[in-house]
Amino acid sequence: MRRGRHLVGAVIAGLALVVAACGGSDSSSDQAAQNAAPTKKLEVFSWWTSGSEDAALKELFSTFKTADPGVAITNGAVAGGGGSNAQAVLQTRLQGNNPPDSWQTHPGQAIGQYVDAGYLADLTPVENKLGDVMPKALVDAQSKDGKVYGISTGAHRGNVLWYSTKALEKAGVSEPSKDYTFDQFVADLGKLKAAGVTPLCVGAKDAFAAPQLFENTLLGVIGAEKWAALTSGKTGWDDPQVKQAAANYVRLLPYFDPDASASTWDQATKRIASGQCGFESMGDWAYGELTKAGAKEGKDFGYVPHPGTNGSFVLVVDTFVVAKNAKNSKNAMDWITSIASKDAQLAFNREKGSTPVRTDVDVSSYPQYQQEAAKSFRSDKPVWSIAHGQATSPQFQQSFYDAVTQFTQSKDVNAFVQALQSAV
Ligand code: GAL
Repeated sequence: MRRGRHLVGAVIAGLALVVAACGGSDSSSDQAAQNAAPTKKLEVFSWWTSGSEDAALKELFSTFKTADPGVAITNGAVAGGGGSNAQAVLQTRLQGNNPPDSWQTHPGQAIGQYVDAGYLADLTPVENKLGDVMPKALVDAQSKDGKVYGISTGAHRGNVLWYSTKALEKAGVSEPSKDYTFDQFVADLGKLKAAGVTPLCVGAKDAFAAPQLFENTLLGVIGAEKWAALTSGKTGWDDPQVKQAAANYVRLLPYFDPDASASTWDQATKRIASGQCGFESMGDWAYGELTKAGAKEGKDFGYVPHPGTNGSFVLVVDTFVVAKNAKNSKNAMDWITSIASKDAQLAFNREKGSTPVRTDVDVSSYPQYQQEAAKSFRSDKPVWSIAHGQATSPQFQQSFYDAVTQFTQSKDVNAFVQALQSAV
């Protein structure tokens, strides 16, 4: 048995089937792209523009430049956490037959839409050269008919509750433990509010942030097994436990930062760093941003799994693809090879706050949080994020965003679950 290929669990393996059901690819155009004349350019497209995201991306650029010093990289990043803006721009470019050479996406249904449309180059030769170092289930989640279409840089954990030690201390709130309950969380939010401290920063100007808060609240009620049933359509969105999670989400609303809808996720995170806000439920790209802001783990901030989600790992995996008709196809293939290297993965994930997906990267030089996350990645129950487009179709993801936005205003639990159910 090849060791590295069995590390991430059955939930990921299940996802491979979804991608496998997607449409075909045209090997003659793949060949044409491979044969194109060499150029001195490369465009890399992403949504990594916050301080830590940009710093991490630059680590990938510098690994590439070491190998290909004569190639000039155009950083085509489009601002907007979670990538809603970037994905809209990307769709226009793809439809206009003007793709970036390489772009950021996620495994599962997110990459599946591009495979389905026939936009992607075959990256199997790059993957084959890597041997056994990528978890098989992850490779399967970006493959179709035995061809690999994406190479991952790192795995983020989506279900982390970050807190400011200073803000909690000011309100006389003790630091939470791993089995922090939702009721304790709400009680502590109340204490923060009573002490005049902003209880919960959300970053809802970014379209993914409130849906992600609901996602984490939902996982805290239904658990990993039911998550798989819900996202595969076996369980309906009108299930009583979904209603319970929705009712829990309503209990959080009085504690939202008054500027919630005017701040981005990274602005919210900086308020945790500076002690102006109690809590933020956010993927661990927040770890990169907290440390970039100079905040110290254990001293200025702490973290626990979002209430009720200890033992589960919400997967938000970053992956790059190459356009089948890339203008700079050789450089794009070199880029994909370089981002898969051990050095690139170690340097990139250190800045980004994520975990290297390669199983042979030694993370012992990482700070405590990232070492713990690397362990959880390999031992916790994995669940794919809906808010980041991996567990469900892009259409459902959009309906999920719309339903949560509407629900945050209406607080109407029945209308909310009906909207979700009818979007399936
Ligand atoms: C996620 C992505 C992360 C981080 C986050 C906020 O979709 O996987 O790497 O960039 O959005 O922008």
